[in-house]
Amino acid sequence: MASHPRWLLYAPYGFTGRLLAEEALRRGHRPILAGRDEAKLQRVVAELEAGLEAGLDSAASTGEEARGSLSHRVLSLEDPEALKAGLEDVSTVLHAAGPFVETARPMMEACLDAGVHYLDITGEVPVFEAAFALDARARERGVVLMPGVGMDVIPTDGVAALLARSLPSAARLELALHSPGRPSAGTLQTVLEGVPGGLRVRRGGRLVQANPGRREFRRWVDLGPEPGSGPMAGRLGGRRSVAPYTWGDLATAWRTTGIGDITCYMSTPRWQVRLMPVVLPVVRRILAIGPLRRYLRRRVARGAEGPGPRRRQEGRTRVWGRVEDDQGRSAEMVLEFPEAYRFTAMGGIRALEEVLAWEGGGGTLTPAGAFGGDWVLDLPEVEVIQA
Ligand SMILES: NC(=O)c1ccc[n+]([C@@H]2O[C@H](COP(=O)([O-])OP(=O)(O)OC[C@H]3O[C@@H](n4cnc5c(N)ncnc54)[C@H](OP(=O)(O)O)[C@@H]3O)[C@@H](O)[C@H]2O)c1
Repeated sequence: MASHPRWLLYAPYGFTGRLLAEEALRRGHRPILAGRDEAKLQRVVAELEAGLEAGLDSAASTGEEARGSLSHRVLSLEDPEALKAGLEDVSTVLHAAGPFVETARPMMEACLDAGVHYLDITGEVPVFEAAFALDARARERGVVLMPGVGMDVIPTDGVAALLARSLPSAARLELALHSPGRPSAGTLQTVLEGVPGGLRVRRGGRLVQANPGRREFRRWVDLGPEPGSGPMAGRLGGRRSVAPYTWGDLATAWRTTGIGDITCYMSTPRWQVRLMPVVLPVVRRILAIGPLRRYLRRRVARGAEGPGPRRRQEGRTRVWGRVEDDQGRSAEMVLEFPEAYRFTAMGGIRALEEVLAWEGGGGTLTPAGAFGGDWVLDLPEVEVIQA
């Protein structure tokens, strides 16, 4: 491992990358800011420095790095040698450029070559699987690969670990996310990119395609009591219908818990759940046509803005989890945490801090696998609603 404590944030000018950069500065970090676009980098550096002068970093400082102006470097993911050279004076990379099916591999390779820890905020199953396939190399190099330090999978991985601990004989795990609010352009593009891969579940330890029309997926979950007042009143709890969804937990919860049957869901209005078996195969075929998918990605990239500051501040998210064993014993849990993008910024930087202080060996790690199931409970504004 490189001994230098500096770390690098890649794509700090994306929607979520910017939130990660602000959270990092607020906590006293001074990461090197990197990306493929020099003009965007210069703009974000100038804005963040102006924010620092105006008191952005008034919150607790970790003392991790000296104060000073922010350095930046232009690095393309398409130039492996330059990318590796650009990582030689850092200990850790936090990667925020997605869709990660297109961006994670070159950065993970560069990190392995340079002996640098890697974290990202993906929720994409193929990216997690690619990272787990690199586990042996990561161990050999003493490098931590930790994809998924965002809304998916930090809280869901914690819930999976805590439930598995409460029912060690568990054979089945279900997880459902309820995240009311507007997605960013990057999230929408990532969803479009993932649709042709189809809907998946894990059965007997293997990832398998699933038909969303199957009876077993017609599910309602109890998200716990509604907040009595405030902006989320009536929008967060209660009994809600869910639809199966290919969350990253299909890859991570299996490694964290060893439970071989995993189904993930997203809260979805009942009428959409009913339409899914008809609509999804058609949408999947349409989006499998590369030029059409790329056209739609450009369209959503122009149109979607993501949640504004007020929604990020006021919004809340819940995850429901359930385990069951072959004797019919079960355990359930509901966890509440901040709005998805605010949580991703906050959780991503906390995970990064853990990795900066990491004294364990290398390998592909999940957040709960590395830091324990209880770790998520210590993050700010995370609350067990039901257990
Ligand atoms: N796990 C979670 O819970 C979670 C939460 C939030 C976000 N995410 C994921 O994080 C990703 C980013 O989301 P976002 O909202 O920040 O999207 P965004 O605003 O579109 O930002 C994405 C950034 O990635 C950069 N990028 C894309 N492809 C690249 C490439 N090949 N080489 C270099 N840079 C590249 C883009 O740079 P240019 O401007 O140069 O094009 C852009 O700045 C998405 O995949 C999203 O799904 C996950």
